[in-house]
Amino acid sequence: MRPLIKSIAIICVITLVGFSASRVQASSEGDTPLPNKTWHFDGALGTFDKAALQRGFKIYKQVCSTCHSMKQMYYRDLTGLGYTGDEVKAIASEFTVIDGPNDEGEMFERAGLPSDHFVSPFANTKAAAYANNGAMPPDLSLITKARAGGPTYVYSVLTGYEETPHDMEGKILAGQHYNKYMKGHIIAMAAPLSDGMIAYEDGSPETLEQYAEDVSTFLHWASDPHMQQRKRLGINVFLYLLAFAGVMYATKRKVWFDKH
Ligand code: HEC
Repeated sequence: MRPLIKSIAIICVITLVGFSASRVQASSEGDTPLPNKTWHFDGALGTFDKAALQRGFKIYKQVCSTCHSMKQMYYRDLTGLGYTGDEVKAIASEFTVIDGPNDEGEMFERAGLPSDHFVSPFANTKAAAYANNGAMPPDLSLITKARAGGPTYVYSVLTGYEETPHDMEGKILAGQHYNKYMKGHIIAMAAPLSDGMIAYEDGSPETLEQYAEDVSTFLHWASDPHMQQRKRLGINVFLYLLAFAGVMYATKRKVWFDKH
């Protein structure tokens, strides 16, 4: 094979191996290995499913946001889920934001705006821990980046509540729960999701698994809202380099046509 074609083939193989490597799941932080779950957004061509993102946001808003903040997020970011500017304005206005101080030095309440950060459920971390038996619900803005296994880990924790096995009995204190995938198998969060608790308008199954999948998808999008643009850029750069290599090869053949 001619050297240039050989190099192009090698580049292709390296790139494909690189793309598929990003699908390999890191192992769980707990002792139980995570299930092998595939996601819409996996792989070089994977994209976020907007309907799943909107359902996931609904779960976050109605359930998780009563305990977990997402401080890195602005309401305006929700246009990334497919909402229009007006829809985002309406969503933001459902929240009460503490603003100020005003001219009299007082803080005041007003309706949320797209330019506001997501409102946090507690005034500070001490209040958050106090309301949860001393365990702090972590901020979820970057949770899928912060835990090995990312969205699969979050999904597994949400669906990993089981009867306490005999050898763990006595180790679980009041306010704690057995969870197969949590490190040490003990978690201070009661199972937040169960079948049928949230109504879906689009006919998707109202099951624990579907809820967990949708909210994990939303949380993964939140931790990396530009993933799709980045993947698209990567593929374009790759195609450009491939085309460029072809042009260079043709040029070389022409220039060296009868000079070997
Ligand atoms: C009633 C309050 C409450 C609600 C509602 C709640 N959580 Fe939690 N969550 C907690 C607390 C408290 C912790 C800390 C648990 C610990 O450290 O043992 C936690 C921990 C977590 C963790 C981290 C586990 C780890 O590896 O440290 C994730 C992920 C999580 N919650 C996701 C969610 C999601 C998603 C929802 C909504 C479906 C949700 N939570 C709803 C209170 C809550």
